[in-house]
Amino acid sequence: MIYLDHNATTPMHPEVLTAMLPYMRGPCGNPASVHHAGRAARQGMDQARRQVASLIGVHDSLVCFTSGATEANNLAISGVGGMQKQPGHAITSRTEHPSVLEAFGVLQQQGHRVTFLDCDPQGLIAPESLQRHLTPDTFLVSIMHANNETGLIQPLAPLAALCREQGVLFHTDIVQSIGRLPWDKEAIAADLITLSSHKLGGPMGVGALVMDRSLALTPMIIGGGQERGRRAGTPNVAGIVGFGAAADWLNKHRQETVASMTRLRAFLETGLSEKIPGLVIFSHNAPRIANTTLLGIDGLHGETLVMNLDLAGIAVSSGSACASGKGEGSHVLAAMGVPKSLALSAIRLSIGWNTQVQQLERFIHQFAHIVARLQGGATVR
Ligand SMILES: Cc1ncc(COP(=O)(O)O)c(C=O)c1O
Repeated sequence: MIYLDHNATTPMHPEVLTAMLPYMRGPCGNPASVHHAGRAARQGMDQARRQVASLIGVHDSLVCFTSGATEANNLAISGVGGMQKQPGHAITSRTEHPSVLEAFGVLQQQGHRVTFLDCDPQGLIAPESLQRHLTPDTFLVSIMHANNETGLIQPLAPLAALCREQGVLFHTDIVQSIGRLPWDKEAIAADLITLSSHKLGGPMGVGALVMDRSLALTPMIIGGGQERGRRAGTPNVAGIVGFGAAADWLNKHRQETVASMTRLRAFLETGLSEKIPGLVIFSHNAPRIANTTLLGIDGLHGETLVMNLDLAGIAVSSGSACASGKGEGSHVLAAMGVPKSLALSAIRLSIGWNTQVQQLERFIHQFAHIVARLQGGATVR
């Protein structure tokens, strides 16, 4: 099996599992309990909070654990929306993750005005476009750091700076960038930051919203007062400990992991471009995170490619894991102005911390054969 779908989820590091096991085997107390078992669970969570905070260089009291990035994005947007005393204006982009786009849809239903910013053909948002749309009643801007489909890195610093100048809260989803780029907190003035554990080698079902302590967000889950009243409910202690261990792993190994991903992706893209005429790599002319290639071959169908690769024991996805299976084509490629037939051929390859060059060699070979067969028997160079 060759796994090239690390943007959907990446395998847990062995160290993460080791850190989690004592909390899974138990006895693991409820971290709200005062007895020794509760205190031990709380200590595990406190350590994880410090580990996650240090990944982005903030104080641990700013970290609010959630069930994942979907909840963190929902909480950021609906929580800030809930703080508004009257209908106002909020801004996001057309290429965000559905957990952001749909939360902005709810803001609209609640009577707020929402602007969905357009991007250029690479997926970039011009700061002038944001500036033009900011109004005196804009209360929130949410723009992701790296796109989960194309891997495009959005230069956030000027966008965040515009928001800071105008006193507008700036939220960013850094789920796909954090494993591949250090977070530059001095350059990017963000008020709310979304993270997910399972995209960095931690367990699924855990994430965090990092936010200023003074923000009186309206919680979505109430009744219990956990996470400083921002997210009620007994937390997933073992999962949170695993998230902390994954953050720690990344803090120690990011540089060499990214260097290896950079080499492997160059190998992959060169090999594919040599063997497959007409192959298009989306957002190719813009900065991209080191592990992601979204490619298209006009005339073929992404879902068919995914199924053929699956039969050959190779896991990739057609666009994002959330959008695949719907057959609608990617909203990200639509926003970039990619013609529908090319967009429908897209497949996403994403390399991870355990990808080997031999796997990529096999992938290139198999993929070129599948493409040639589907194109009607053309020979593979
Ligand atoms: C950019 C981005 N944001 C949010 C999410 C949702 O993350 P989670 O699975 O932790 O809810 C994903 C995962 O698909 C993602 O890629």
